[in-house]
Amino acid sequence: MNFRELPKVELHTHLEGCAPPAFIRQLAHEKRLDLSGIFTAEGGYDFRDFDHFLQVYEAACTTLQSPEDFRRLTMAVLEETASHGVVYMETFVSPDFCGGGDLVAWTDYLAAMQEAAAEAEDKFGITLKGIVTGIRHFGPEACKPAALCAAETYGDFITGYGMAGGEMVGRPADYAYSFDLAREAGMPLTCHAGEWGGALMVAETIRDLRVARIGHGIGAIDDPTLIDEILEKDIVLEVCPGSNVVLKAVDGWASHPIAKLRDAGVKVTVSTDDPPFFHTTMTAEYDMLHQTFGWGEDEFKALNATALAAAFCDDDTKARVAKRLEPAQ
Ligand code: ADE
Ligand code: ZN
Repeated sequence: MNFRELPKVELHTHLEGCAPPAFIRQLAHEKRLDLSGIFTAEGGYDFRDFDHFLQVYEAACTTLQSPEDFRRLTMAVLEETASHGVVYMETFVSPDFCGGGDLVAWTDYLAAMQEAAAEAEDKFGITLKGIVTGIRHFGPEACKPAALCAAETYGDFITGYGMAGGEMVGRPADYAYSFDLAREAGMPLTCHAGEWGGALMVAETIRDLRVARIGHGIGAIDDPTLIDEILEKDIVLEVCPGSNVVLKAVDGWASHPIAKLRDAGVKVTVSTDDPPFFHTTMTAEYDMLHQTFGWGEDEFKALNATALAAAFCDDDTKARVAKRLEPAQ
């Protein structure tokens, strides 16, 4: 079966994490930065574990220094993502990597991303929306300007607020101020949890940050009471199986809990997270889900309907994207 052509909705990507290593190498060359330490001899990203991954990720981000760099990145990412059938994508973008949390700088970076998104929509038939993201291991204070940037730019392109980064830094309640600020601005919320912190971190995230979606959330599988709460609150999981396998959050594809979560009635969706880092694509994720759990076109269509319903964009955008999910007449 060829899943590449199947139209797809992807809710959980990190814009900088979608940067191909060759793209980052080119920027490093242009800016005379020596980033040789973050690449393997074959030219891929080189990291040992999750903490090292975050270090390599942040080193790669040092090459992204201007709105123009983000315009180029956004175009390159959308062309590649659309080539795997993705017709709608949400991506985490961080004011920390776009002008250091300064609102004026942030609006310039956003304008450049939006310009590229509009061009890519025309050329490649993919819609992009941004979710402003606080970086957890930068600490609760650093997440406040990110949330402020989110609230000030919430609109057509920026559709939500979330948090990524080192999950074991602090507790969800430490970050409540930022989430409250974004919620009071009317923004939908998501947060990485249960990638590393197990069911407890998912439960605290739901209780203290009151999110509609959880990034990863796979640790929830160990707590039936939490599963009941996820069902009752209609919380959607942004599951990224290939990322979990490469970062060793799970032992391998066969033991990944996505199928059990889905069987328990949880609304799961599938995304790539940071595709070039994890040598994955949406096509590869679907291929592996097919090989491992026997999922086919029916399951993938249902998955995409769930993802579109849980998307943070406006209803007009959803209606436009829904047409792209329909089979060609
Ligand atoms: N930032 C980029 N990828 C991430 C991941 N998988 N978990 C937490 N933060 C991230
Ligand atoms: Zn992520």
